[in-house]
Amino acid sequence: MTEAAAVPAGRRPESSSVVHHWPVDHLDGLDVDPLLRRLVRDEPVARVRMRYGEGDAWLVTSYEHVKKVTADPRFSRALTVGRPVTSMTPHTVAPAGGIGRTDPPDHTRLRRLVSRSFDRRRAALLRVDAEGTADRLVAAMTALGPPADLTEALTGPMPERLIGTLLGLPATDFARIQAWRRVLLSSDRSLRESDAVKAEIAVYFRELADLRSREPRDDLFSDLVAARTAGTLSGPELISLTLMVVLNTLDQVLNQAATMVYTLLVHPAELARLRADPVLLPGAVEELLRFVPQRNGVGLPRIAVTDVPVGEVLIRAGEAVHVSYLAANRDPRVFTDPDRLDLTRNEAPHLAFGSGTHYCLGAALARMQCEVILSTLLRELPGLRLAGAPQEVRWRRGTVNRGPEALPVCW
Ligand code: HEM
Repeated sequence: MTEAAAVPAGRRPESSSVVHHWPVDHLDGLDVDPLLRRLVRDEPVARVRMRYGEGDAWLVTSYEHVKKVTADPRFSRALTVGRPVTSMTPHTVAPAGGIGRTDPPDHTRLRRLVSRSFDRRRAALLRVDAEGTADRLVAAMTALGPPADLTEALTGPMPERLIGTLLGLPATDFARIQAWRRVLLSSDRSLRESDAVKAEIAVYFRELADLRSREPRDDLFSDLVAARTAGTLSGPELISLTLMVVLNTLDQVLNQAATMVYTLLVHPAELARLRADPVLLPGAVEELLRFVPQRNGVGLPRIAVTDVPVGEVLIRAGEAVHVSYLAANRDPRVFTDPDRLDLTRNEAPHLAFGSGTHYCLGAALARMQCEVILSTLLRELPGLRLAGAPQEVRWRRGTVNRGPEALPVCW
């Protein structure tokens, strides 16, 4: 159970006298962490302590304050390097010097190098490719007959093909890359295992970079190698940037798209509305992004560089701050009846892709893939349904991102 135990804080902040012990226990399906649900309503800036790391940290959950913290340059990511801030995992997924752990101007430079490839224009071009891939994958799945595991047949291979094309990664390397993904995006593997995998990845990308610098191709990885040669990107940055792009694409789209399908199948009235009026799809994807609990716990923290008031609390220089985008997406001050799925909801933009300086670089790409997956399934399989009862679906354990282990469906 994830209910937090409240204990007296060692060092009492002005407006909070307790530290919530947050074990970030396993959650199934669409369940929202009970602590997040409670904090966003009653204590939007709270103190928490998780299983790993040292001491405790602030956890900001309300929509308004999450937006404020993530846009404020007085909260630094670079200062988290070497700080064992309380965390849900024994290892950090994001490497030091990686895009998630830098501040401007380094952060701006890294983002610029890839943002061109992930903007709406590139996503539109890639959409044609993605539509062809989804058609082929669904045709192969139906040719074998029901039931099928949708994660294996569609939501797993789809981002694999896309990132393979975009970065120019050989299809035969994906068994290895997927194995690395499973270790790095776990929440229960040791620091040693994670470091060993990071070392293997560094060798892999260094060798590929040498190859592309001799024989450049028309792909994002060759562009990044050219930036390294030109001196705008260091060798370690090339590796960590590529790694973040690959891992996020493979893991987030696999889980997110599968959970979106599950969500629709267990909300038959909403699914029927969408089937009756497919132009609702782009808005429906936004509502699904808001509604689906994408991850366990929270991501990377930030460190206050100076004293900053947030709501009724004064966050002191040097203190660590986590934000929960997931909790903010259920903020009742912003979303009417936030626990209800409403595919035509038209309220504030969701924060599933984060906000502020570190807003998801792959948002357009992720939206596009989710839309293509859903529209292909709606069009090709009007009888799509779960192959068993909803409670029979098994959900991933010991992972950072949430999603079904497998999604058995028939049609
Ligand atoms: C539905 C799928 C996805 C979701 C829900 C998602 C969510 C997020 C969130 C919440 C953040 C910001 C976290 C923070 O405050 O640091 C983020 C950052 C990031 N995402 Fe995504 N993401 C998705 C797909 C992708 C894809 C397909 C890519 C591929 C390019 C990607 C690449 C990145 C990168 C590189 C960052 C770091 C940006 C930075 O630190 O400046 N994401 N993502």
